[in-house]
Amino acid sequence: MVWRPTISFAALKRAGHAAVRVKDRVVFIAVIDEKLYAMDAVCSHSRCILGLLDREKLRVKCPCHDAVFDLETGEMIEPPYVSPDVDRDKMRLQTFNVRVNKGFVEVDV
Ligand code: FES
Repeated sequence: MVWRPTISFAALKRAGHAAVRVKDRVVFIAVIDEKLYAMDAVCSHSRCILGLLDREKLRVKCPCHDAVFDLETGEMIEPPYVSPDVDRDKMRLQTFNVRVNKGFVEVDV
């Protein structure tokens, strides 16, 4: 894997989170209490872009059918309401190492 720059750390701090294109994928990045997180931003159910964040619980919610993912592990916490019996292990999203380098957030993709 290779460290790839995304957006400036200052911009991420202002926004709190963002979905950014990195190489051939879209990654959800966030900074919460000075800690960085990076996880696939494409929902494993029907490929909507994740975007709603519960900062206290480290949960990311899909706007399409309300699936909920753990930002730290990628685990599906709540299934889509249209498919409550999905195999949650298979729906887990990939997480990535993330760092700040020279003012930019870099993701190891
Ligand atoms: S596309 Fe995300 S829950 Fe359906």
